[in-house]
Amino acid sequence: MSAALKVRVSAARMLTPVVREITLKPCAGTLPGFSPGSHVQVHLPLAEGKVRNAYSLTSDPADNRHYRIAVRLQETSRGGSHYLHRHVRIGDSLEISPPANLFALHATASLHILIAGGIGITPFMAYIAALEQRQANVELHYLHRPGLSDAYIEELQQRLGSRLHTYSARPDLGRILRSRPLGSHLYTCGPQPLLDAVRQQAKALGWPQSRVHWEAFSAAQPGQPFDLELVRSGRHLRVGAEQSLLEALESAGLQVPNLCRGGVCGQCMTRHVHGEIEHRDHFLSPAEQAEFLMPCVSRGCGPCVSLDL
Ligand code: FES
Repeated sequence: MSAALKVRVSAARMLTPVVREITLKPCAGTLPGFSPGSHVQVHLPLAEGKVRNAYSLTSDPADNRHYRIAVRLQETSRGGSHYLHRHVRIGDSLEISPPANLFALHATASLHILIAGGIGITPFMAYIAALEQRQANVELHYLHRPGLSDAYIEELQQRLGSRLHTYSARPDLGRILRSRPLGSHLYTCGPQPLLDAVRQQAKALGWPQSRVHWEAFSAAQPGQPFDLELVRSGRHLRVGAEQSLLEALESAGLQVPNLCRGGVCGQCMTRHVHGEIEHRDHFLSPAEQAEFLMPCVSRGCGPCVSLDL
């Protein structure tokens, strides 16, 4: 895995009462370039150990003097968003992983239809910057709660004009997706129920799967603590209630490939040997889950889990 980047918080502002934008500059040298839809993992020193949360880059991909992220305060989360809202100040140093992209733009699309729910607007901010530079056809459908989850709304109104469509309740997806020009691509990001509804509607209207792209915002959630046995190395670990299985492995010095840390990319797939698993990923089929798990989100739901590590 690539080495972490050291960055400094150069600016921060509240976009809404629950969304904080943070600008990051390199502590030394330059930041790697990134493509629209990329995210970084921010390494957070929480009480239970180092936690890494993934955030989309909202800044212009053509400008790598800084990165920008926008963080929604999640009162029920394990504390990552709370730390970035309440503890991180301008001038603080942070470590982040280099950008990775699991939600890339498709250069050949004749029309880019973007559907965002709440904080799902974040990857689309970098999309819109890139699409404006390419003078590409784009329309944005933005579902938000006015005054709460409407980050960037004024900026988007100015930049997109009539190409921005806003909703405070679930829009008529059939109207958005029916009879669109040949070569259109659809992208959606936001809460899982919105993604499911968009994908179902696209399927019902005959959209080819290759033209429907989605990114879920999911992260490790707390659960019951459990013991972990690593059968190949003979090691025994404990996974705390506020810790993901992946974080417990990393704290013990094990390197497990990972990109999304949200159960969607498939990178961290690990074989389980024994014990009851609560699968929380969006990647494995039920048949695959009988043999594998995604330690970034899934966890044991009994006293002990054994892994083929
Ligand atoms: S890191 Fe992507 S599925 Fe676990």
